[in-house]
Amino acid sequence: MATGVSRGVTSVTGPVSVTGPVSVTGLTRRFGDRAVLDGLDLDIPPGQFVALLGTSGCGKSTLLRILADLDRDIAGTVRVARRRAISFQSPRLMPWKRVWRNVALGLPGRPDRQRAVAALDEVGLAHRTDVWPKTLSGGEAQRASLARALVREPDLLLLDEPFSALDALTRLTAQALVAELWQRHGCAVLLVTHDVSEALTLADRVLVMSSGRIDYDVSVTLDRPRDPGSREFVALRTDLLARLGVR
Ligand SMILES: Nc1ncnc2c1ncn2[C@@H]1O[C@H](COP(=O)(O)OP(=O)(O)OP(=O)(O)O)[C@@H](O)[C@H]1O
Ligand SMILES: [Mg+2]
Repeated sequence: MATGVSRGVTSVTGPVSVTGPVSVTGLTRRFGDRAVLDGLDLDIPPGQFVALLGTSGCGKSTLLRILADLDRDIAGTVRVARRRAISFQSPRLMPWKRVWRNVALGLPGRPDRQRAVAALDEVGLAHRTDVWPKTLSGGEAQRASLARALVREPDLLLLDEPFSALDALTRLTAQALVAELWQRHGCAVLLVTHDVSEALTLADRVLVMSSGRIDYDVSVTLDRPRDPGSREFVALRTDLLARLGVR
């Protein structure tokens, strides 16, 4: 089942047999006079890993918030898999809840310790199940946030710059973890990042957003694991950087 949002009204619209986890048509979001999203179209098929690039302030987080159903003040049509989860740049853990209870917040109903612990185990944090969030390192907190997103087995995982606050080494480990979890779970992923190399390392498809729309859409067919030194990788990177105004 998908949730259909049309002109700000949410309605249940039947099985998603013909559409993927994301089907967006003519999406417009205004803040005052400014249309930050301006007739944006986007389809994501099941299981695809998509990276979204764009200059700061172009509307990437606005799009993710809408897909996560955190913002309904829109025009256009948005159909999104009902089972979706979002993880933000900061882990947003509740300091007064132990780690497993934070992860259990990703599930509807009563806190399910067993499922929370299984999700923590998947991100390598089973040994931190009962601690307070303030005792976690930045990378651990981000992994706990990922566990909270994954605990409900989403069809669509929305990641808004989840690695940007991590140091370079922790970031590489976190990227590898996301790649592994994506392969294991088979969910579609929409990852917002400012890092072109990260996009090309992880994604099947890279989008560039500009003027409120998806301005560029390229498939990444390089073999995995990706070799950042390969001619094709470098060519794609140069092309994407140019589209972002970096030469
Ligand atoms: N609630 C709001 N009220 C008014 N303006 C907003 C609101 N939310 C976002 N905006 C504006 O919309 C534009 C897009 O914001 P958004 O956060 O989506 O950008 P972004 O592409 O995610 O940028 P960054 O890469 O810096 O995170 C910005 O100019 C921002 O100031
Ligand atoms: Mg943002």
